[in-house]
Amino acid sequence: MKCRICKKTACVGLRSHNTAFCEDCFLQFFQRQIERGIEKEHLFTKDDRILVAISGGKDSLALLYELNHLGYNVTGLHIDLAIQGSSDTAREAVERFCQKHALPLIVLATSDYDLAIPTVKASVRRPICSACGTIKRYFFNKVAIDQHFTVLATGHTLDDEVARLLSNTLRWDPSYLATQGPLLPAENGFVRKVKPLWRLSEYETATFCFLLGIENTHTVCPYSQGASFTVLKKLLNNLEATMPGRKIDFYQGFLERGKPHFRTMAPTNANLRPCIQCGYPTSNDDMCGVCHMRTLVRARKGEAHKDKTEVEEEKGE
Ligand code: AMP
Ligand code: FES
Ligand code: ZN
Repeated sequence: MKCRICKKTACVGLRSHNTAFCEDCFLQFFQRQIERGIEKEHLFTKDDRILVAISGGKDSLALLYELNHLGYNVTGLHIDLAIQGSSDTAREAVERFCQKHALPLIVLATSDYDLAIPTVKASVRRPICSACGTIKRYFFNKVAIDQHFTVLATGHTLDDEVARLLSNTLRWDPSYLATQGPLLPAENGFVRKVKPLWRLSEYETATFCFLLGIENTHTVCPYSQGASFTVLKKLLNNLEATMPGRKIDFYQGFLERGKPHFRTMAPTNANLRPCIQCGYPTSNDDMCGVCHMRTLVRARKGEAHKDKTEVEEEKGE
């Protein structure tokens, strides 16, 4: 197989694009897809201060690497969730990566806010993956706002976006269909959120990391059941294998021709008010969801402390 651009021997075949590239031309293709994704959806400019949320996985590390390479003003943000067996490895990978490439990095440990994920899991009733998602998004936004970043970027890829779109479509969920996309504009108390990898697949980010020797973690969260999205991703991969190019067609078609029909159904933020504890915008009457979880964690800790003291007192009698 020959590279479509330079005719040297190809090392990467991309069926969705019906093409193959040598190493150099693939890296240029990858860069061009990010640039096109930024331009097409007006995600940000060179004047923005961009906070890139990096988990330690291939997608977000590839994103931070390439945005820096393209000359954007970027800083990494890692949230240490204190999950045994995965958080330490992720944090080390992120720290090594940023040190190696001289990239600025902010690390925030949720345990410093009484929100270590195992403790949250023991204290709240809702499924831990959803609670964890809320906590991560809260800190992405908080760090961005507190430290005056103008944009928060995540490493969501075309695969993530198409799976989400299919899930939203299967439920015909108008409020999600009205807001899904690579750009969520800034709104009172919320920073602008972007997904610059929306034109690239996980296979392409994995190839990019492999070719550049970017070490990344693929430790699976022990709590993740990952059920519905994994099923949808498998389904879409099967579709792509027989009908190459369907994923990007489906997603891009939605952005251009589907989403505008849902515009009037976007949820309004009119009834948001500041959380009485932390000031974060919330639709609750008093505390935001994260402060509420922290209250439950602290209450449980208080109970545990009381139990321990009672046992000790009983022993002393
Ligand atoms: P996931 O929901 O795990 O697929 O992650 C989606 C995106 O969220 C990643 O590409 C990162 O940009 C971001 N992200 C996930 N976990 C973390 C974390 N612990 N710290 C910082 N960013 C994260
Ligand atoms: Fe948050 Fe698994 S990564 S619960
Ligand atoms: Zn709060």
